[in-house]
Amino acid sequence: MGSAMFSGLDLLATAVVVLDRSLAIVHMNPAAETLFALSLRNLRGQPFAALFADGALHAGRLAQALADTRGFVDPDLVLARPGRDALHLNCVVTPVDAPEAALLIEFRHIEQQLRIEREAQRVTQLEANRELIRNLAHEIRNPLGGLRGSAQLLERELDRADLREYTQVIIKEADRLQALMDRLLTPNRPPLDDVVNIHEVCERVRSLILAEFPRGIRIERDYDSSLPELRGDREQLIQAVLNIVRNAAQALLAEPRAPDEEGVIELRTRVARQVTLAKARHKLALELQVIDNGPGISAAIRDRIFYPLVSGREGGSGLGLTLTQTYVQHHGGVIEVESQPGRTAFRMVLPLP
Ligand SMILES: Nc1ncnc2c1ncn2[C@@H]1O[C@H](COP(=O)(O)OP(=O)(O)O)[C@@H](O)[C@H]1O
Ligand SMILES: [Mg+2]
Repeated sequence: MGSAMFSGLDLLATAVVVLDRSLAIVHMNPAAETLFALSLRNLRGQPFAALFADGALHAGRLAQALADTRGFVDPDLVLARPGRDALHLNCVVTPVDAPEAALLIEFRHIEQQLRIEREAQRVTQLEANRELIRNLAHEIRNPLGGLRGSAQLLERELDRADLREYTQVIIKEADRLQALMDRLLTPNRPPLDDVVNIHEVCERVRSLILAEFPRGIRIERDYDSSLPELRGDREQLIQAVLNIVRNAAQALLAEPRAPDEEGVIELRTRVARQVTLAKARHKLALELQVIDNGPGISAAIRDRIFYPLVSGREGGSGLGLTLTQTYVQHHGGVIEVESQPGRTAFRMVLPLP
């Protein structure tokens, strides 16, 4: 009965138990079977509350949730297991309105829960940093126009060329700052809603990079051609990937190499299923990895490379990866990196419709 209906739950890492109106077990996903060290076959039709010896999740509480059609969260549930250590769980009970299912119960190890919360906190912190930088950039940009204009007026009054060099410095530096501030401030444009083929994005980036770095780099592709198209902003996605691949190319070329040792960048795409991105669950997502065999990200900045103005390069702005991350987040995705000497892999995961 109904196993097809619940098959979507079976891939989840979170333990899920489904109960009917009489609070008997209709389904447990494999993660729940592992958690309770019991098999669905033996438990189907059994009253669920009996699993908890101490009655922490007793039938009355569940029946109440059913009667009120209001779920509840128990953030710290202790599950005693015969012959094994007790488990500390966070549990979410949700009434559902389906013919053969009445309550859905999710269990997470507290530790797993904490990790998710810490990640959420990190994202909040990052957003606060961005906000601060945006405000600061606004404050810096506003007086720049005045500075530049005054330097120009002053320049017209000067008849000595050696003095005009000074006003030129003011004007040039004001322009440079202006450009930097513009780049700090642009990523707020809301993304467009194009139909985007990720492989077209990759191919575009590949040809741009090969034009910019005609020697010393090979770009390999390992595409999963079954990947469906995604909805998003083509230009933003190209820029996002371009920034990563350009960094890889720069890192590869900065390192002196033996003539027979080539710098290689690999673009790899895959399907990912049942992922949680930015607090939302997605059935289907795409994974794009950019892997290079360069020197790796220096340890001094490894934890901060997505922060604005963090650069390990002479003359770098430290904005490339910040923009990339912003664009990926605009698309509901995440980006992460793993790096060691000889292998740096950026991995971005984007939800698919
Ligand atoms: N593939 C890579 N290999 C080594 N270092 C990298 C790689 N990608 C990024 N980095 C480091 O991260 C820093 C930040 O990159 P980014 O945000 O694009 O700023 P920028 O390129 O202007 O320095 C780079 O300066 C570089 O030190
Ligand atoms: Mg860069």
